[in-house]
Formats: sequence, C-alpha cells, structure tokens
Amino acid sequence: MVALRDDLRLALDRAEFARALGLEPDPWQERLLRSASDRVLLNCCRQSGKSTMSGIIALHRALYHPRSLILCLAPALRQSQELFGKVLGFYRDLGRPIPAQAERKLSLELENGSRIVTLPGTDKTVRGFSDVALLIVDEASRVADELYFAIRPMLAVSGGGLIMLTTPYGKRGMFYEEWTGGRGWESYEVKAEECPRISPEFLEEERGALPSWVYRQEYECSFEETEDQVFTTEMVERAVTPEVAPLFGGA
Ligand SMILES: Nc1ncnc2c1ncn2[C@@H]1O[C@H](COP(=O)(O)OP(=O)(O)OP(=O)(O)O)[C@@H](O)[C@H]1O
Ligand SMILES: [Mg+2]
Repeated sequence: MVALRDDLRLALDRAEFARALGLEPDPWQERLLRSASDRVLLNCCRQSGKSTMSGIIALHRALYHPRSLILCLAPALRQSQELFGKVLGFYRDLGRPIPAQAERKLSLELENGSRIVTLPGTDKTVRGFSDVALLIVDEASRVADELYFAIRPMLAVSGGGLIMLTTPYGKRGMFYEEWTGGRGWESYEVKAEECPRISPEFLEEERGALPSWVYRQEYECSFEETEDQVFTTEMVERAVTPEVAPLFGGA
C-alpha cells in the first residue's frame, strides 16, 4: 500500500486518487475530479457513476483536509446510507490510511478530525450542523424543496461546497429550478450512450421495455412532464403568455 498521507500526488489530484482506488475515470468523471468548483450539479443517467464520484470526492476531502465535516444527504436514509457505504468501502480498500476514531454504520470519524455523516432526508435532522465543508445531495431531484432550503444556510459561514447529483424527476422542484435557471453552478450532463459500461444492446432492450418518457428520464437526462400533470408544462406556459390576450376577463 502507498503511504497515502505522504503521497502529495493523490492529495493534489483527485483523478489520481480515483485511480489508486482502481477506477479509471470516464472523461466527464476526470473533468469533475479535476474541477475546483464548489457548486456542482450532476444530471446523469442511471448507473453512470455519479454516487461513486461523489463518494470519492467526499473521502478525498476527509483524508486530505483535516477537520472537514462532510454530510451525505438523500430523500431517504437508505439512499444516503448507500452513498456513505461507498465512502466506507473506499476507505477500507485504501487500508484506512488515516485511522478512524469511530467507524459506525452511519458515520466515520477520522483521527485528523474529519467526519463524514449520513443524514436521512428530513429537515429536523439536518438543522443543527454547522461548519460544513462539503454537502452532497444524492437523488437531488427527489429531495423536498423545504429540505433544500433548510440545508443551504449550513454552508453560509463555512463557505463549504455543495454537490447535487441525480437523474431528472419531472419539471419541478429545486433541482430542476437550479438546473434550468440557477446561477454559479458547474453542470454536468451524462447520457447513457456516453457511459462505456452500458452497452447499446442493453439500451435497446430498455427502450423496448420502458414507456418512452421513463426511458428518456432514466437514460437521457430528460426532465419529463410530471406523471400527474394533466396539461403539459408547455401548454400551461403558452396559456399564460402575455402575447396572447385572454378570451374573457381582459381589460
Ligand atoms: N470509472 C469507472 N470505472 C469502473 N466502474 C465504474 C466507474 N464509474 C462507476 N463505476 C461503477 O458503475 C456502477 C454504478 O455506479 P454508481 O452507483 O456510482 O452509479 P449512479 O450513477 O449513482 O447510479 P444510480 O442512478 O443507479 O444510483 C458501480 O458499480 C460503480 O463501481
Ligand atoms: Mg447513485
């Protein structure tokens, strides 16, 4: 095993860190790992590796920046736990380069003072954390807006980073709003055909098996109309355009 703490190369280059974990990053992953942005949106298809990349970024932060508090959040505890499980797996694969003070099911505390904590997706449990170095929101398109509004202030004083990753889930909610109109984000869109681990044959099979809007949502990064929406978003937008006078009630 390499003496990780002494390995400046891995400390300075997260892509090299990923390689040390046995993963050769895809081109978009390499760009993300080399990025210095602290506001990142990942709109990526299923199984493209977005949770894996976020887990790598979380662990890198914890190992190489002492006293970092990193929070993993998702709509449900099971999903946050899955992300945290990846972090823990990588930490073990590396041979625990910095010993743990506590290695629990939902959190990891390192001797350098860094902590990685898993949170369930309710707003009561996320309040109370401060000095957050990095907040990772998995399945972000399904996270309730109230929760998003509750977590953002945690970054205010610490100047911490925020990464939100997801497949789309309709034209609604905070992720959609940020993706389409938010400012200051570095954005990544990754469709299934760009993922070298997903074969064209598999995608053909999925195309045949799934309703077409589900296929577009899961594999083509598309924000589809909400299932329970009677009118399409476009129809509603056209209906309220100021260019067309209303039939009744106009001045
Ligand atoms: N660069 C890579 N090289 C090899 N395997 C990779 C790479 N990136 C991701 N993987 C593998 O691809 C699989 C899917 O990764 P991951 O769970 O991170 O995807 P995801 O985008 O979060 O998927 P989902 O939307 O289903 O949650 C995992 O087995 C992961 O190890
Ligand atoms: Mg995932």
